[in-house]
Amino acid sequence: MPKVTFITHHGQTHEVSVPTGTTLMLAAVDNGVPGIDGDCGGQCACATCHVFVDPAWAERVGGRSEREDDMLNFAAELRDSSRLACQITLTDALDGLVVHMPEGQH
Ligand code: FES
Repeated sequence: MPKVTFITHHGQTHEVSVPTGTTLMLAAVDNGVPGIDGDCGGQCACATCHVFVDPAWAERVGGRSEREDDMLNFAAELRDSSRLACQITLTDALDGLVVHMPEGQH
């Protein structure tokens, strides 16, 4: 049951624990975390699940796929740490993950 902390632009934190294998997007949506809509259902086609991976976790989370990178080009507030939450699968290695939400998502 990896635990994840979502931090909004305003500093509000939401901690959730989800079964291993859950995507970061579903971890948010299934637990009512505001700011992650997941409109396309995780198909890497909407960018409403944009998050910034905390710098302490960047290496463990890894980089974007080419398709994800293309979709993120449509996202506001794009940063080096930007990822689409639907493209991150939570494993025990990511237990404790911290991600931040863009200002426009709340
Ligand atoms: Fe649509 Fe992630 S849920 S891109």
